[in-house]
Amino acid sequence: MKTNRTFTMIKPDAVAAGNIGGILDMITKGGFKIVALKYTALSAEKAGLFYEVHKERPFYQGLVDFMSSGPIVAAILEKDNAIADFRALIGATNPADAAEGTIRKKYAKSIGENAVHGSDSDENADIEGNFFFSAFERF
Ligand code: PPS
Repeated sequence: MKTNRTFTMIKPDAVAAGNIGGILDMITKGGFKIVALKYTALSAEKAGLFYEVHKERPFYQGLVDFMSSGPIVAAILEKDNAIADFRALIGATNPADAAEGTIRKKYAKSIGENAVHGSDSDENADIEGNFFFSAFERF
């Protein structure tokens, strides 16, 4: 099912550095409409569930610890071709490889503390959006 929606989080590093406004500005200037938005935090248990697909990866525990280390911003975004266009806007996972003009090039510190998350498929965008937002919290 193609939804033209994606899910994002502004991660604890970027929230702590005061970059919520700058990142939301890049997102909206990139043509994305915000259809749900929440300032919140992940417990270690919830971060573990969110990233369960990476459970066997060596970075899993570090990722869970980091993602539960402070507040985040969760959002659902709408745009034609949302998944691919948003992944292009955020740039490569490792900011050292991220292109000029991308969110991670500007705001990410490292492969672990990389400022933003973006869904990798329509199916996961739906699952991840449902993880954070009820039907009454999205438009
Ligand atoms: S993959 O193989 O494409 O699924 O992996 P990738 O998208 O590159 O990474 C998945 C998420 O894990 C985070 N990540 C890391 N965290 C800490 N340390 C290391 N070395 C590391 N490598 C990858 C990465 O930021 C991805 O998080 P999200 O929230 O999905 O962006």
